Amino acid sequence: MKTTGNTILITGGSSGIGLGFAEEFLRLGNNVIICGRREDRLKEVQQEHPEIIIKACDVAKAAEREELAGWIKKNHPEINVLINNAGVQLHANINKNAELQKIQTEVDTNLIAPIHLSSLFIELLENKESAIINITSGLAFVPLAFMPVYCATKAALHSITLSLRHQLKHTSIKVFEIAPPAVDTELGHDTREDKAQSHGGISVEEFLKEAMEYISKDVYESAVGMAKGLKAKREEAFDMMNK
Ligand SMILES: NC(=O)c1ccc[n+]([C@@H]2O[C@H](COP(=O)([O-])OP(=O)(O)OC[C@H]3O[C@@H](n4cnc5c(N)ncnc54)[C@H](OP(=O)(O)O)[C@@H]3O)[C@@H](O)[C@H]2O)c1
Repeated sequence: MKTTGNTILITGGSSGIGLGFAEEFLRLGNNVIICGRREDRLKEVQQEHPEIIIKACDVAKAAEREELAGWIKKNHPEINVLINNAGVQLHANINKNAELQKIQTEVDTNLIAPIHLSSLFIELLENKESAIINITSGLAFVPLAFMPVYCATKAALHSITLSLRHQLKHTSIKVFEIAPPAVDTELGHDTREDKAQSHGGISVEEFLKEAMEYISKDVYESAVGMAKGLKAKREEAFDMMNK
């Protein structure tokens, strides 16, 4: 897809990968709208980038997703790219004491939200040069067993993306999937004792360099960095990763 002159909504654009995409697309001459739950974080980003448009929204809630779509339709009907990026990694257990609330939040945020938002935005994206970009994970292909629900949501989002691409093949909407490897962001910080610590991985800049290349070259399904190996050698990787 073209990487300039778009109007792009990025869910979860206030930190990590989403913020990286926001800054890169701004630099390339796009209008960028970001959303997230924490308004103070969105305002901090806007202070640094006054041209960015912000909208507080909890994508885990159906009513807020509908409100977001209505707000965009009214205020930014020119939108032509939706990046379903917002995600949480809550390490919900499925053993004896299944943590139902965490499971529900992970599934709502990582899976139901991108499905519902894609559906809500199709009428705004059709008949334009447009795209839906879903951010999955290398863990869509090989689960880390201590975060089973997170991995399952990403596997399901991979599957949904294949079907969505098929369903939209006769429209102008391109459907992308990008599966990041471990990237050094705030993801999963709720589960760490030291909230300032990250789970490591490549830098957002390194991730973006490869991801932007796939987007600009219309590579509709891509795994970045180490995620390539997980996609290619799933069964072998499971034992190695879950030792
Ligand atoms: N970092 C990695 O290693 C890695 C690897 C593979 C895939 N990914 C995927 O990449 C995406 C971005 O993650 P990240 O690593 O950049 O994590 P991050 O730094 O924690 O960023 C997550 C973003 O999503 C937002 N968000 C979370 N829940 C939300 C909700 N219910 N409604 C609206 N916004 C919400 C957060 O803002 P608020 O908290 O203010 O809502 C934040 O802006 C996720 O889908 C993640 O699964 C990351």
